[in-house]
Amino acid sequence: MEDTTQTAQTMPRIGEKAPSFTAVTTQGDISFPEQYKGSWVIFFSHPADFTPVCTSEFMTFAKMEKQFEELNCKLVGLSVDGLYSHIAWLRTIKDKIEYKGMKDIEVTFPLIEDITMEVAKLYGMIQPGESSTKAVRAVFIIDPEGVIRALMYYPLSTGRNFDEFVRVIEALKTADEFSVATPADWRPGDDVIVPTAGSCGVAKERMEAQDLKCYDWFFCTKALDKDTVLKAIKG
Ligand code: BEZ
Repeated sequence: MEDTTQTAQTMPRIGEKAPSFTAVTTQGDISFPEQYKGSWVIFFSHPADFTPVCTSEFMTFAKMEKQFEELNCKLVGLSVDGLYSHIAWLRTIKDKIEYKGMKDIEVTFPLIEDITMEVAKLYGMIQPGESSTKAVRAVFIIDPEGVIRALMYYPLSTGRNFDEFVRVIEALKTADEFSVATPADWRPGDDVIVPTAGSCGVAKERMEAQDLKCYDWFFCTKALDKDTVLKAIKG
């Protein structure tokens, strides 16, 4: 018989509108993603307060907040802990934890309390193969229109690489701004990929074009200098 006490879990996908919810956070109530219209957002979950991997992540993320601000990107965290646990944990981080040269770290972005797991289930963050009582380390990159543009899920034991999220937002903004794609490990200043030619004629022209470097008919890149990219995607 179906267990009707369980809220159904949904898995949002790239290109879909981020599911809406209201929640209580360490910075007051939020209405998500509506209140973030016009900004990029990294919405991420962590398994539990007062745990070591999560502490290392929060310190790293909070330290990098300015880098995200420069990209017009706001941070929103979530775990299935309650508000007072969140407040106590963040205070402990600020007052007591010194880690890898980071100390006195104040987390000023909102951390959602989700003791009912309603929001976590709405975003597919409860993955019972890993844990049915904690959220996995999920990351949703949401654009200023509230559309999910990238998502990643990590297991409980693996701390995330926050430089990668900066890189993904830089790459998405560059792709939007210049109608290009970005190759493996791309960083601003590296060559970008021009869309694949739709016909043999265009492919031939491309192969001969001075400003393109073509590795084959389907794979052409062009230079896009770092200043131009940064000017377009920052501020
Ligand atoms: C941690 O953040 O260290 C952690 C949290 C939940 C399960 C395992 C590790």
